[in-house]
Amino acid sequence: MSSQYQAPKGVSEYFPPRSNLFEFVLQTLTAPALAAGYEPIELPVFEDTELFTRGVGESTDVVSKEMYTFEDRGGRSITLRPEGTAGVMRAVIEHNLDRGQLPVKLYYKGPFFRAERPQAGRYRQFYQFGIEAIGINDPQLDAEVIAIAYEGYKKLGLQDFVLHITSLGDAESRKEHRSALNSYIQDLDLDDETRTRAAKNPLRLFDDKRSEIQAKMKGAPLLLDFLNDASQENFSSVQRALSSIGVPFEINPRMVRGLDYYTGTTFEFVHSGLGAQSGIGGGGRYDGLMETLGGQNLSGIGFGLGIDRIILAMEAEGISTSFSRYTDLFVVSLGDKAREESFVLVSQLRKKGFVVEQSFGDRALKGAMKAADKSGARFAIVIGDAELNSGSAELKNMATGETASVTLSGLANTLAEKSQLH
Ligand code: HAM
Repeated sequence: MSSQYQAPKGVSEYFPPRSNLFEFVLQTLTAPALAAGYEPIELPVFEDTELFTRGVGESTDVVSKEMYTFEDRGGRSITLRPEGTAGVMRAVIEHNLDRGQLPVKLYYKGPFFRAERPQAGRYRQFYQFGIEAIGINDPQLDAEVIAIAYEGYKKLGLQDFVLHITSLGDAESRKEHRSALNSYIQDLDLDDETRTRAAKNPLRLFDDKRSEIQAKMKGAPLLLDFLNDASQENFSSVQRALSSIGVPFEINPRMVRGLDYYTGTTFEFVHSGLGAQSGIGGGGRYDGLMETLGGQNLSGIGFGLGIDRIILAMEAEGISTSFSRYTDLFVVSLGDKAREESFVLVSQLRKKGFVVEQSFGDRALKGAMKAADKSGARFAIVIGDAELNSGSAELKNMATGETASVTLSGLANTLAEKSQLH
């Protein structure tokens, strides 16, 4: 039977058992950020539209085509956040977080919204784990941020991915490059729309998916060739720092990030098992963003990792199946008195830290044991009047089928001992 209501087109949803993997991925990615002293920040999923038009940039697809923008009841223009960095920067400025110890180191996770054409790995509501380190411009901080993402992927067991890095240099380098690129583009035969796009940000043409534009851009001047000495030295230092801690990378001078605020080091993690939507995470430094949004002139760097694509990548590598929910014990009780006493016993065991489930309803033994089996519990125990009277019951190892007689009063200790064997 098909249900009357369906989720909106192109959203990603997680329900058991896959939602366990979702939760596990978030926790695993958070661990390296915690180890480096990053703190959580929780922000609204909607903001004033202008925050994104100014922060992310009007030349981007994200702002020009993909924002969920609406008028609220007070007549304000509101947008569902398409990314996290602008909102974090708004909060840092608004709450003076940049007036204390620098860098401000924050992490966040949650849903983001882009009205893209849905396909595998590309959703209209998707999830990111992100970090931002704001207030210090130091190549070691660039390397720290990149390494946190790398560590996260590795902890998840991912292997088939590559880290691409490049540098957009400082303002002087970008200016030199932009004028060379503009004169190159001027001589190209382009349609009006593409030309308008290039006028807003010529770098966008490197990212154009159409093969005729790609062919035309083949000989275009690359920013990496225009880095002045300071920018060159900065980029070399980032590379040295990454190598010193064993983070492998490839330099990709043609990489263009989809958001306009980037400067200096930028990077993307690309997975080979995902087809067209291969970017599992990306980020970079953003020198002017804070000032653009009305704050001090401080630099920042961060990343956003796509949880949905990471899960697809794990599935593509066959490393998702080993993860499932864990239950220590399933308690089946038969008869009113046993039901009452078991309910208390289950509660006590949970308080001691065990994951315990119980049978509900007036199930016959066979049905209850089926539920025990389905729960994936390591052990099951049946408690009826006879067991209450004797104070002992048979504890069944669900994997081997072996049973052992145990006392009900010593059940916690027995479980603890058996867990240690594993
Ligand atoms: P982004 O590259 O636009 O960067 O997004 C980061 C990641 O989010 C992508 O690599 C991808 O894995 C995932 N993602 C993006 N759009 C979708 C979608 N429609 N469906 C599924 N996954 C998607 C940012 O958002 C920046 N705020 C990152 C950053 C933080 N830069 C500096 N600080």
